[in-house]
Amino acid sequence: MRGIGPRAALWLSVVAALPLAVTAPATAEKQPYTVQCETAATSGTHCKVDKATYIGWRTYHAFCHVCHAQDAVGSTFAPGLLERMREIDKARYLQSLNEGYTGQIGVMPAWKDNPNVNKRYEQLYAYLRARSDGVLPPGRPKRLQ
Ligand code: HEC
Repeated sequence: MRGIGPRAALWLSVVAALPLAVTAPATAEKQPYTVQCETAATSGTHCKVDKATYIGWRTYHAFCHVCHAQDAVGSTFAPGLLERMREIDKARYLQSLNEGYTGQIGVMPAWKDNPNVNKRYEQLYAYLRARSDGVLPPGRPKRLQ
């Protein structure tokens, strides 16, 4: 009986390498926020953030906190976004906000028709990434001048 030839073996290794290639851009992506905290700060009030992250914080607490809770820690009917933002890449984040998302926990409406949100996807992303990377503690940050 013939085993798999070198060509097939090469093809298999290419297929096996694919998932890595797909997730690489998400981790290699540049940090979308600037956060400067006082030493050992446990509250966002002791941190300063760039304008985009600050607008993200503000937008989040106007439109998202009602479900995902203050500081994005999650509620009984919407997931904590600290963990979730580590699990999804940016393309999926944008798609879920645009189209809405239905999962095991519940249903999120689409945001693509709400200009107060759909113009601020990047800022929301910066804020949520700063939170999920563990760089920005809970609480209202100040703005870097
Ligand atoms: C009406 C309640 C509600 C509001 C308001 C809401 N969400 Fe959600 N969100 C949910 C639910 C429910 C899920 C999906 C939970 C699940 O996986 O079953 C979700 C999921 C998500 C996800 C993960 C999507 C994925 O692909 O896994 C992100 C990111 C997210 N929300 C961000 C936001 C942001 C940013 C806002 C504010 C613009 C927001 N949400 C407002 C309820 C809400």
